[in-house]
Amino acid sequence: MAEPQEKRIDAIQGEIIHVYDGIEEADNALPLWWLWTFYGAIAFAVIYWFNYHEYEVSPLPGEAYTIALQERASGGEVTEELLATIAGDPAAAAEGQTLFATHCVACHEANAAGNIGPNLTDGYWLHGGGIVAIHDTIRDGVLANGMPAWGPTLGATSIQQLTAYLISIRDTNVEGKEPQGELYSPDGEAAEPESDETAGVPAADDEGETAQAEEPAADSSGV
Ligand code: HEC
Repeated sequence: MAEPQEKRIDAIQGEIIHVYDGIEEADNALPLWWLWTFYGAIAFAVIYWFNYHEYEVSPLPGEAYTIALQERASGGEVTEELLATIAGDPAAAAEGQTLFATHCVACHEANAAGNIGPNLTDGYWLHGGGIVAIHDTIRDGVLANGMPAWGPTLGATSIQQLTAYLISIRDTNVEGKEPQGELYSPDGEAAEPESDETAGVPAADDEGETAQAEEPAADSSGV
């Protein structure tokens, strides 16, 4: 039992208002840093609640993750300028080559000269030889014809690097699979005028190489 003690003023703790079992209780004002942390936590909780739950201004982490995944799959905004810049970067093309060795050689062969998939080193393209067309083909695939869509698996950056690599080997004409599709010319000069078909979209009645009227003029890439 604690023996009753006189209230006393402690040099450090101030006035001792209660003693029990030798444990002394003082009654000081709370330190300011503690109080402000406390008030701050309350304010944070209110703002957080309204932001995330009441008005849903910001997406919850799970939703943000889903949005990020969708952006990743779609590749976000790619412009011809962006792709041209990346294609001019040897480091990006080198990364692309590594990715190609991992994901693409099974169908396009190690030297990209074609196997199940077409020869990617010649000047002929089924789905357009322009930089944007190539990018979109890799990203979206040609599912009906056995070319997978790589956007969801590899993400935007990798697709851009793969594009850079393919641009770097375009027209190197490695001997391999015979040409398929239309001859691509950067300026579209050699192209027959055909405007009703967009590059990258295979014709519904795909009759093979030559019937595929991909329009080099549609992607007038100067690259
Ligand atoms: C499962 C086999 C397969 C794999 C793996 C594959 N491709 Fe393909 N790819 C194809 C086929 C088949 C086509 C031709 C599609 C068609 O006939 O429309 C094609 C077409 C393409 C084209 C368009 C060629 C043109 O003439 O327009 C590009 C570009 C391409 N692939 C890039 C890639 C890249 C880059 C990868 C690796 C990330 C890859 N492919 C992996 C099968 C594959």
